[in-house]
This record gives sequence, structure tokens and C-alpha cells, in this order.
Amino acid sequence: EKGLYAHYMLKEIDEQPAVIRKVISKYRDDQGGIRIDPELRERVMMADRIYVIGCGTSYHAGLIGKQLIENIANIPVESHIASEFLYNRPILSANPLFIFISQSGETADSRGVLVAIKQMGYPAVTITNVPGSTLSREADYTLLTHAGPEIAVASTKAYTAQIAVLALLAFSSVSENGRAQWHGVDPFHELSIAANAMEILINKKEMMEEVVWKYLTSSRNCFFIGRGVDYYVALEGALKLKEISYIQAEGFAGGELKHGTIALIEEGTPAIALITQPHIRANVRSNVQEIMARGAHVCMITMEGSEESDDQIVLPAVHELLTPLVSVIPVQLISYYAAKYRGCDIDKPRNLAKSVTVE
Ligand code: F6R
Repeated sequence: EKGLYAHYMLKEIDEQPAVIRKVISKYRDDQGGIRIDPELRERVMMADRIYVIGCGTSYHAGLIGKQLIENIANIPVESHIASEFLYNRPILSANPLFIFISQSGETADSRGVLVAIKQMGYPAVTITNVPGSTLSREADYTLLTHAGPEIAVASTKAYTAQIAVLALLAFSSVSENGRAQWHGVDPFHELSIAANAMEILINKKEMMEEVVWKYLTSSRNCFFIGRGVDYYVALEGALKLKEISYIQAEGFAGGELKHGTIALIEEGTPAIALITQPHIRANVRSNVQEIMARGAHVCMITMEGSEESDDQIVLPAVHELLTPLVSVIPVQLISYYAAKYRGCDIDKPRNLAKSVTVE
């Protein structure tokens, strides 16, 4: 029930810190270790390459998963859009493992890939919110996201729960060699810091509402820019904004702007820049300068410790690999308030269904 909330989407955005804490409690064993089937852990560590498959928001979580697994477990990862993978299959490695990401566990495009790779005899794990769903039943292993029912068509808490589970899977698959690097990093501790940071932002909703007032009341388009994981969150921000507010939005890798897109920037074009990664911070700031010089109105979302005086939204500091859990909160809320301002049907955007069971 949505209770006092005007929309399920807002309720589900608010639930995210609690969902991350639930994931922590479900995956933490009595010794503080990660509760993941040792056989699955073994499969992950034996794989020479991991293929992460999903659609829409779940595909965007898969992109973050690539970053997490490659950085933490040091295993090469490719993230694919299910419908593209199915009809334009990449050359597979000798010993692949497949990870399917699906809130509903019923998405036909993802299932198509699962059926195809099972026929080839490859192992599959499904990360889903729905126990007993088709993708869960047909895979060899299931990791549940424990986000509780997601009613709003636009996915929010499922995305952050998927990222948390992917992080735990990555940490549980660190090899002996990699241990030294991660020694002392407690993933549960880092996730709980992230949950607290999410909560701080959720309690400052007026900040995101202000961004909408300032940048998005009359525009027909909006750009999201970032590099690395910030680029992946930019893709998610753009998807959220377009699907519920019908503002045309695009997520861009900061460095790509000058290769074409910058032609679209004119006086007053709104852009949202995500700047959480220390090693590429300066590059994104210089991309922002370039578009501002051409008239863009840029809302900066940055991280505590490296903020500058005119940044609109400063995220509480969290572990560098977990920033998407936190940076996605303002973009979800900006989308929500933009849709609300426009009087859109937030929980049931036009032309969309919650679960897409046709190809
Ligand atoms: C966007 C959204 C969709 C879903 C996609 C996959 O807000 O909800 O893009 O993420 O249809 O659905 P699942 O995760 O159920 O496979």
C-alpha cells in the first residue's frame, strides 16, 4: 500500500536505504562473511569472462556490475542488452558465466538469452526480486534482491538492490591474490555507509525539487553527462526522466560531447553533470565548462570532499565503487518532481507495462 504517499514511485525511492540494509542482513553470515552459495562463488571465480544480461534499468545495473566485478574480483565482464545479445551474439570466451538481471524475472528478451545459453550448456545465475520467477527457475543459481514488491513502472529500489547484490557477489569472488588489495574493506560496512548517505539525500528532497524549478520547467530536453560509472548513472537518469516526464533526455559520456552532441547545446539547454570519481573529476568539470560556454544550464552533482562552491547537489562521501547507489537518488527524485510538475501519470507512464513479457 502506498499509504500517505501520493505515488508508489516516491514510496519506493524512500524505501531504498531500508532495502540496502535488508540486503546486508540477508547476505551477511554470523561471522561477518558473505552468504553466497560456495558453488556459485566457485563458478564465478572459474569463469574466464562474465556476461551480464538485462534490459532497461536492469541493463544499467549490469553496467555498474561490470565495473564492480572487474575492479573487485578482477574478472573480465561484458554487459549486454538482452535483445541485442540474442540477435547479434558476441564471440563467447571458452569458459563463460552468465548473470541475468531482472527485477520481475519475467522479461522475455532476457529469457530468450537464458534459453539460448542454456542450450549451449553454459551456467547462469539470475539476480531478481521475485523468487520463483521464470528467470530464477530456469537459471542454475538465484540471488534475490529482497527489495519488496516494486509497483511503480519506473524501477528505482530494484536497481539499487541489484547493485548492492552485484557488489557482494564481486566481493565474495575475490581470489587469494586479490585479497591483499581488499584487505580491511568490509563490504557490509561500506554498503551501510551508502545506505546512510542515501537516507541523507532522501531527507533533502526540496533540493531536488529546486533543481526541477530551476532547470526543467520549460525545457523539452535534458542532457546527463558523466564518465565511467557516472556515465552509467547518467544513462539511468536519462531513462528515468524520459519515461515518466516525457522530457527527451540523453545520457552522454563527457568526452563524447565534442564528437557531435555539443551541437545541440544552446542558450538555456539543461544538463545534469555527475562528478563522483576522483580520477576523472577534472575532465568532467572541463566538459561542463565547454557546454556552459555555449549556454547550457548545468546542475552539478558532486561528492563531498571535492565539491566546489556552486555545485547544486553534494553527495555524502561513500566508497568510490559504491557511488552509483548514492548518485542515482537525486536523478530519481529530479525525474519524479519533473513528472509531477508536468502532471504526468507517474506510476503508470503512457505506453509502458511493468513487466515486458513479449519480445
Ligand atoms: C525502467 C524500467 C525498465 C525495466 C526493464 C527490465 O524504469 O523499469 O527499463 O528495467 O523493462 O525489467 P526487468 O528488470 O523486470 O527485467
